[in-house]
Amino acid sequence: MANNVVVVGAQWGDEGKGRIIDLLTPSVDAVVRYQGGANAGHTVVIGDAKTILHLVPSGVLHADCLCIIGNGVVLDADVLIDEIEGLHSQGYLKNPKMLAISKSAHLVMPYHRQIDQLRETKLGSARIGTTGRGIGPTYEDKAARRGIRFGEMIDPEIFKKRLEQILPEKNKLIEILGGHPVDMSTLLTEGEGWRKRLAHHAADASLILNRYIKDGKKILFEGAQGTLLDIDHGTYPYVTSSNTVAGEACCGSGVGPTVIDDVLGVVKAYTTRVGEGPFPTEDDGKVGETLQTRGKEFGATTGRKRRCGWFDATILKHAARVNGLTMVAITKLDVLTTIDPVRICTGYKLDGATIDYIPSSDEELRRCEPVYEDMKGWKEDISGVRKFENLPKATQAYINRLQEIAGIPISIISVGYERSSHIMMRDPFA
Ligand code: IMP
Repeated sequence: MANNVVVVGAQWGDEGKGRIIDLLTPSVDAVVRYQGGANAGHTVVIGDAKTILHLVPSGVLHADCLCIIGNGVVLDADVLIDEIEGLHSQGYLKNPKMLAISKSAHLVMPYHRQIDQLRETKLGSARIGTTGRGIGPTYEDKAARRGIRFGEMIDPEIFKKRLEQILPEKNKLIEILGGHPVDMSTLLTEGEGWRKRLAHHAADASLILNRYIKDGKKILFEGAQGTLLDIDHGTYPYVTSSNTVAGEACCGSGVGPTVIDDVLGVVKAYTTRVGEGPFPTEDDGKVGETLQTRGKEFGATTGRKRRCGWFDATILKHAARVNGLTMVAITKLDVLTTIDPVRICTGYKLDGATIDYIPSSDEELRRCEPVYEDMKGWKEDISGVRKFENLPKATQAYINRLQEIAGIPISIISVGYERSSHIMMRDPFA
């Protein structure tokens, strides 16, 4: 039985982590987000209501769960305030004490958003395809030690002093990029609004988490984006600006690696990607179109159509290695129903050789051609199935093959949109 589990995306994000986390939350005392920002969009469907969370941990839909935004997150105060209001209107987060925000989390400022968008426009066809949420420029400033932390913002004097140091240089950059310089007094006024609405959530998240751990409470560490968007282990430069892998759960929340018991990787039964960059198993034809429409593959944050393709086991093996996965959750299995055959990419042909890993160079990955293994498809509706042995034989064979290639046990399989539409093989917290 595990106390502390990290849940990470094992592809390019949008694997359905929010839904898996929502399922596991009744077993835990706290859920902590530890990286990324409002570029993430975690969709959870309960009955007819769909909730999209960008910054608040997915545990918020359970009243007894403490939600923590860790130091590794970059915080867009406007998005967070809107999100909290939306949650209130749906009857969630009635007790403000159930949301704690690390004072060390860095703020996404309006100039970060502007710089992100201006740079993308300037790059033209070489753009990364960012979400335009200012994520990259905020992490840049954090590393360059010219960021503003949440704890600094809630003190008006410090906030003003930091802005006086930082803003002139930012405005020079904005001018070079052809944008509109940001006015100091506007930022100070915005800061007042943020302070009024958010200051009471400020906390030392590392202290709270370590107290919870000492008391034997259960914690779920909620990853955002996916392994292939990791700044070091992803498909650089077409990545986000944070470490998305499981190791970041520690750095981004203030706990040590020895407290993590399990790492659950979430994969979709096929592959999707938003934004630019290589995608070896992408399908531009009928299958890709079917997956896109049937899987409702639109970005939760930007509304962009997601690119779709076959399951790539090379990616899962990579994710297993760099995250130290101990179990896997497979989502959206039902979307594959009626597609026959179902293909699994088991490796790549690169310059005449067959490889079973993801090359670190962008140029090499672009030259990779997928090697497929074809499996029999199934026609039966599987959305009502709750036990593995009740799945059609062909579906079982597909899952067993994925498990065999990855070499990791499967813990959860989701078979439909509803909260209850899943098969629980092994509950990490049970
Ligand atoms: P950024 O994180 O906005 O800088 O975007 C960098 C890359 O990561 C782009 O390809 C985005 O589409 C992608 N990305 C960022 N967040 C997510 C996410 O939550 N899901 C899927 N892709 C994402």
